[in-house]
Amino acid sequence: MKRIAVVPGSFDPITLGHLDVISRAAGLFDELHVLVVHNPDKSALLPIAQRVSLIEKSLADAAVPGNIVVTSWSMGLLVDYCTDVGASVLVKGIRSQVDVAYETPMAIVNRNLASVETIFMLPDPAHAHVSSSLVRQVAALGGDVSPYVPPVVANYLVR
Ligand code: PNS
Repeated sequence: MKRIAVVPGSFDPITLGHLDVISRAAGLFDELHVLVVHNPDKSALLPIAQRVSLIEKSLADAAVPGNIVVTSWSMGLLVDYCTDVGASVLVKGIRSQVDVAYETPMAIVNRNLASVETIFMLPDPAHAHVSSSLVRQVAALGGDVSPYVPPVVANYLVR
């Protein structure tokens, strides 16, 4: 049986930290789905389709393993997507204790809802301070975001 995992998130936009976690996770599973999900608690910068496109281009440029599917989900619970595609694992990147506190309730709810387990992965410490919200803020104020995001994203945000 195929081992399928999902990396869900807003990815608004994808950062080098996301890319690092995705690359590491791809090596652990037969198939990895990078799933863009609208988070109503956050005000979005990019349309969902644009986020998917930037992830696809970033993965292609970084030559990450070919077992990755990039798509989006707006039909309800994240675990419903997992059930639809036969995924039993969620992968989340953890930068700090703040992320652990944010992710733990979601991991427990997702396990209770559908027996989907969550695995926390540590990105390279070089990316520990990088977040999409920081990138959005720096970009909105005209700053250089190229140290934090894949080149295709930096170019897109400049435009
Ligand atoms: O990158 P983010 O914004 O931290 O990602 C959070 C996200 C989108 C993964 C989370 O909000 C989510 O899982 N949303 C889907 C709705 C859902 O299933 N909620 C109940 C279980 S947490």
